[in-house]
Amino acid sequence: MKIFTTRQKLHEYLAEMRLNGKTTGLVPTMGALHNGHISLLATAKRQTDVVVCSIFVNPTQFNDANDLEKYPRPIESDIEKLKNADCDVLFNPTVDEMYGPNETWHLDIGPLEHLLEGRTRPGHYQGVTQVVAKLFNIIEPDMAFFGQKDYQQVLVISRMVELLKLPVKMVMCPIVRDEGGLAMSSRNVHLSADDRQHALVLSKTLNMVKEQYQHHTLAELKELATAFINSEPGVILDYFEIADGVTLLPAQPDSTKVVALVAARVGNTRLIDNMILG
Ligand code: PAF
Repeated sequence: MKIFTTRQKLHEYLAEMRLNGKTTGLVPTMGALHNGHISLLATAKRQTDVVVCSIFVNPTQFNDANDLEKYPRPIESDIEKLKNADCDVLFNPTVDEMYGPNETWHLDIGPLEHLLEGRTRPGHYQGVTQVVAKLFNIIEPDMAFFGQKDYQQVLVISRMVELLKLPVKMVMCPIVRDEGGLAMSSRNVHLSADDRQHALVLSKTLNMVKEQYQHHTLAELKELATAFINSEPGVILDYFEIADGVTLLPAQPDSTKVVALVAARVGNTRLIDNMILG
């Protein structure tokens, strides 16, 4: 696996690959890799010739300095995992390599940015679009692979791709869960054994809502889900929404895709999860 820390060298390498007719797939990450990331890499390997994984803990998408500081950064074990996953290229830049001083530009991607995660974490998606726009610019991937766990992020980045008319195909890959149903996340390392048990209420609730989807109104389902999560000790619900899968506004009878999304604090860790209902 080749490892690059500068944009210039990576860009040159990929330009050469492109001249040789190779397609490029990008799996953008913030490291602390888990099986969810490995499954993105496996999908990218099947669909493109040169797979680039970026590991960059992007400061502009954190609105809590403490969260940024405690974000896990196990780079040595990440490199091992990438080698085992047969990743072709790792891009692991510093903050100075990615950002100039006092960068304030942002993209207006519309209402999507301010709903759900955007409401709880103002500015989060500005940071995400900033860094992903930079990664797309440097790497010029043919395809980019994102996990469904960050469903809203996939919609936000897809909107950016649409607005900027970027020549990249977005691929959303299914959520990977552990045996108990907990969605894989880099943040799970912060969960205690008890937290892990309590956190299962999130996927259990999503499964219950999916099972009951045809038998209740959306308002009833939301009430059931909220009560179920609130009854779990150690879990503080942020939101549970049943939303239109395209706009993320509350689902309507004519919504063609409906998704249930949840965010909650479990112990000291904020978790998100979702499930496509129909
Ligand atoms: O999903 C993530 O890990 C990050 O938000 C991303 C897409 C790598 C941008 O920093």
